[in-house]
Amino acid sequence: MAQFVVAVVVGSLRRESFNQKLATAVAKLGPADFSFKQLRINDLPLYSQDDDPHQADAVRRLKDEIRASHGVLFVTAEYNRSMPGVLKNAIDHASRPYGQSAWAGKPAGVLGVSVGTIGTAVAQQHLRTVLAYLDMPTLGQPEVFLQAKEGLFDNDGGIGPASRRFLQDWMDRYVAWVKHHSV
Ligand SMILES: Cc1cc2nc3c(=O)[nH]c(=O)nc-3n(C[C@H](O)[C@H](O)[C@H](O)COP(=O)(O)O)c2cc1C
Repeated sequence: MAQFVVAVVVGSLRRESFNQKLATAVAKLGPADFSFKQLRINDLPLYSQDDDPHQADAVRRLKDEIRASHGVLFVTAEYNRSMPGVLKNAIDHASRPYGQSAWAGKPAGVLGVSVGTIGTAVAQQHLRTVLAYLDMPTLGQPEVFLQAKEGLFDNDGGIGPASRRFLQDWMDRYVAWVKHHSV
């Protein structure tokens, strides 16, 4: 039975999203005492500070799910050399009202896949700046910049053989990171 729950936030709403597939595939590399729960962000309103005193049900659900987790995994696309707006919108919602952020202290991991050769490196760098401000201890190494190409995923929706060892190493370190930082 899972003792550690990781909230997974995917930075793409695309139906056939590579990042969605990556989030599902990488979760299969986790140990038996970890479970990975993808959080819904496609029903969040656009963030407005006017709504802070009466946050929408979808926002309160998101914050409750983050608070109930032992760690957060961001799996993001790169849009115009940054994180997609849908991800930033979710981050902003759960960070507010001021002093009531759901993110603070949650150990984080960052992964991403794109069609470009630098594999979301710039988006991840921007995201890491935000996570530092949100007081989320974020695993630094190994960095995971993946390019979407044939064989990245196997026929069962797992990680393909060429990247499996690398991502298993990442997972082992992330698991240790979550255990070390979870309170
Ligand atoms: C608005 C937009 C901007 C994009 N900008 C970048 C970019 O800066 N770097 C990059 O590598 N790919 C970029 N792409 C291509 C994405 O890598 C590609 O669409 C990828 O499939 C998105 O991830 P997903 O499959 O998880 O949705 C962009 C795509 C869109 C739609």
